[in-house]
Amino acid sequence: MKLGLKTQILPADEAAVAAAGRCLAAGGLVAFPTETVYGLGADAAQAPAIARLYEAKGRPAFNPLIAHVADIDAARQIARFDATAIRLAEAFWPGPLTLVLPKAARCRVAELATAGLDTVAIRVPAHPVAQAILRAFGGAVVAPSANLSGHVSPTTAAHVATDLTGRIDLILDGGAVSVGVESTILACLDDAMLLRPGGLPREAIERVLGRALQRLPEDAVNDDAQPLAPGMLASHYAPRTPVRLNASHIEPDEGLLAFGHADIEGAHAAKAVMNLSVAGDLGEAAANLFGYLRELDAKGARTIAVMPVPHHGLGEAINDRLRRAAFGR
Ligand code: TXA
Ligand code: MG
Repeated sequence: MKLGLKTQILPADEAAVAAAGRCLAAGGLVAFPTETVYGLGADAAQAPAIARLYEAKGRPAFNPLIAHVADIDAARQIARFDATAIRLAEAFWPGPLTLVLPKAARCRVAELATAGLDTVAIRVPAHPVAQAILRAFGGAVVAPSANLSGHVSPTTAAHVATDLTGRIDLILDGGAVSVGVESTILACLDDAMLLRPGGLPREAIERVLGRALQRLPEDAVNDDAQPLAPGMLASHYAPRTPVRLNASHIEPDEGLLAFGHADIEGAHAAKAVMNLSVAGDLGEAAANLFGYLRELDAKGARTIAVMPVPHHGLGEAINDRLRRAAFGR
């Protein structure tokens, strides 16, 4: 790995967006805000840039990437859309939905980015900085979350800098993201299938489809040998401190990740307490989730104890990420 790169951090103004476009065209690695989490972008058509991206993240190369494009027209250059895919794209793009579709014949996304699959994951991000970069660059940008592989996804430019300084060329600082969990991934192949719960609640997709989506069995998501979205390894989002779920009491040497009114036994004596949303708002909780996990992870607690979070709306994605954070630790 070529370390010791000089990583520039720039406020995401017009000049920085233009610089990001040039850097991507030159095969560089650029971190930028999307509405879900910060992404680490590379030109989707340049295999050497993508190889550097996998290296910078320490990511196994069999784990494919999401291609980000500015609009549906650009997406249709890359993948084949059936009627369902068009309906979903029109309803939810730009926004926190990734569609897995059959590659188009003229798809220019490098094989390395799709890990040799005949499908490709595509998303049109809504964040104005992401949109501006995609338009300035003019092509598809593959972008995983801008963290070291296995770490929690970044929701601020500072999180990105902590993980990737010296490993990438440029970080555009566009402030804290609004959604806070990664996009919902839906395979639209023979049938629509939810591969990863995320920033677009399942219920919204089901309303557009006019039917319920099949639930993934929990062991399907937790099978490292054959994950459904290849990157959905069971312990993907892990802080270093062990995580304990569904806490109803707390020990003095634990940190508490609370939700709603934190009237939990022992909370006053906890090493640290962070409340995802005092008001019990799932959107606020999602936006705070990864940042609070990072902060609690730094407190030197024996365990991070997590209070139960309701399982509807964005709660499905929050509980998925918490389950992964707790898995096998
Ligand atoms: O919100 C997001 O989706 C963020 C922002 C930056 O856009 N990106 C993100 O990327 O979360 P990443 O690489 O951390 O997660 C992408 C997931 C992985 O689990 C990967 O296995 C899956 O998408 N994936 C990519 N291509 C796929 C394909 N053809 N079939 C099934 N899963 C795929
Ligand atoms: Mg990730």
